[in-house]
Parts: sequence; structure tokens; C-alpha cells
Amino acid sequence: MTPSEFQDRLLAWFDKHGRHDLPWQNPASPYKVWVSEVMLQQTQVATVIPYFNAFIARFPDIQSLAEASVDTVLQYWAGLGYYARGRNLHKCAQIIAERDSFPDSLDELLDLPGIGRSTAGAILSIAFKKSHPILDGNVKRVLTRYAGISEWPGSTEASKTLWKLSASYTPVHRVEDYTQAMMDLGATICTRGKPNCAVCPLVSACRAHIENKTATIPAPKPARKQPVKQVYFLCLTTNENSILLEQRPGTGIWGGLWSLPEFDTIESARSWCMARHIDIINEYTQPKVRHTFSHYHLDFTPLHFHTNNPNHFVMEANRMLWYKPEQFSSLALAAPIKRLLQQIYKD
Ligand code: ADE
Repeated sequence: MTPSEFQDRLLAWFDKHGRHDLPWQNPASPYKVWVSEVMLQQTQVATVIPYFNAFIARFPDIQSLAEASVDTVLQYWAGLGYYARGRNLHKCAQIIAERDSFPDSLDELLDLPGIGRSTAGAILSIAFKKSHPILDGNVKRVLTRYAGISEWPGSTEASKTLWKLSASYTPVHRVEDYTQAMMDLGATICTRGKPNCAVCPLVSACRAHIENKTATIPAPKPARKQPVKQVYFLCLTTNENSILLEQRPGTGIWGGLWSLPEFDTIESARSWCMARHIDIINEYTQPKVRHTFSHYHLDFTPLHFHTNNPNHFVMEANRMLWYKPEQFSSLALAAPIKRLLQQIYKD
């Protein structure tokens, strides 16, 4: 589809099905458009509307917003979340109130706190009818599907492609309607979960639709590969059926819980025993076990040492003690360690 066909279809759809009576439209002033766009950055239209109305009733223009205390502004923001947006809005108002007009160029808008490229594009197109592209979440989804971009749209590479695409379709004529139309299409038709392709004006050229990929495009953000930490947990057992347990330090994983002595290598476990005159008469390892924390995987190998001369002095100021299996139930044990001990002593 050529850009002009794309625009014609979209605008024809917008005239019939777009949103034409939002409280920041009719008449749209730069002040109202700016406030609404900042509120809409992370919040949906339906949620924003009552907050917007109350905000405008209390702060009808830049001057009243600039003169208010930040606490009063945040009172009116309460419930919208992301309070940095409210603080920035107030700061912007104070900057803009010092000038004789609302900034109407990309560079001036980008200089203001809390205004990024997409919000600036929305203000320039909707409030000033200047041809500037936008790329908010809705538009990103529409264009990612339309162009059949299989990569996660948040990647640097995909973002570049999407900004270029957005710019190439943005018209000069009726740009304010075009911008609102793209947002409305994304919010009401080209939704994340169940896009209503049957009524979409762009369907005939939409790659994701043609290739039956609307369920997989846009791709989700790739999960970050979590680091893996490898350790040995020493299962040092005695002829009396005791095992050496260690209480973990108060901070860090399993803080204050009882665990098994932890070593980076088998060699360091051997040296540790040797330094305490503990003779090892039998040694073997069990297969590695993975325990996943929120930010890394712990791969631990149970390392079994058996000794016939357990050393009974109080080790490391009571952080290490010999325990018998019947005492385990009275201990706060880390869950994977508890499972391992149960497995060792199940017979
Ligand atoms: N999201 C961001 N800006 C919007 C607007 N003007 N209308 C609807 N949704 C939006």
C-alpha cells in the first residue's frame, strides 16, 4: 500500500469509527493536548478521562498549574501512578509559563522534562497540526503487525525501522486526525490479545494478518538470560549418622536459614576438612540440581564426604553444628536443602 492509500483508508475509518469526543478534543488547545498526552503515556483513555477533567477544572491553564504547589498537583495526580510524570508536568509548566508561547518545535519540546519523541510528535501533530510521526505502544503494535516485523519491537534495530515506517506514513494534510486515528486503531481494533482484523482498514496489506501471525507479532520482550552460579554443597556425614549444617549469614540468599557448607570447588572442600583434621574415608558427588532465584540460577552439586573422626569442637562460633536427622524438623532449612536432606535420609 502506498502511504497515500494507507492514509486514505485510515482516515476514512477514523471519520466513521474513531474517537471524536475525548475531553481534550473540541477545541484542542496545546495545554490540554500536552496534559492529556502525558497522562496517556502509561495509562488508558478510560482511566485518564475523569482525572483529566478534574485536573483541568483545578488547573485550567499553564499559569494556574505553574503557580500551584507540587503537592497540590500531585494530589490531582494521585491514582494515575508514575508520579514522576506529575512532577515533570509541574516543572514544565513553570518553564513554559516564563515564555510567551507554548513550544511548538520538536527540539524545544524534547528539551522539556518528561517529553520524549513520541509525546512531542503527538503534541506537534494534534495541537499544532504539524507533520511529525509518533510511536507510542499502540502505534508500535499496528506498524509491527502491518510490516510483519518478527523481532521484539522494543529492540534498537526494530525501533529504528518502526520510526522510519511511522515517518513514511505520516501525512501533511489532516495529520492531527491521522495521529489520533493510529492511536484509536491500536487501542480499539489492533489490540494485543484479540485483534479484530475483520473490521481493520489496513487488513488487505497487513503482513501479520496475511501470514496468520497476529498471535505471535508483536513478539514479547526476550527474557534476559539469567546468570548461573555453580557451587558444591558439602554433605559431611559421620558414623553416628550426623551431618554438618551451616547457618547462612543474615543477608543474601537464604539469610539466616540453615544450609549445607558451600564451596566453589571440590578441592576447597577437601582443604577445608584437612585444615580441621577431618579425615575423609569416602567421597562421591550426586548429579547437579538447579534452583532458580528471581535473578539467577543456582546449580549446586551435592558433594558427599564421610568421616569416622568428626571434629566436635564448636565450629566457626556456632554457625556450624552437627545435626541428626530427627532434629531437622526443628530447623529453618532452605527448601532445596531440606529436599536434599530428606532424600539422603529417606531410608
Ligand atoms: N494514547 C496516547 N495519546 C492518546 C490519544 N490522544 N488518544 C488516545 N490514546 C492515546
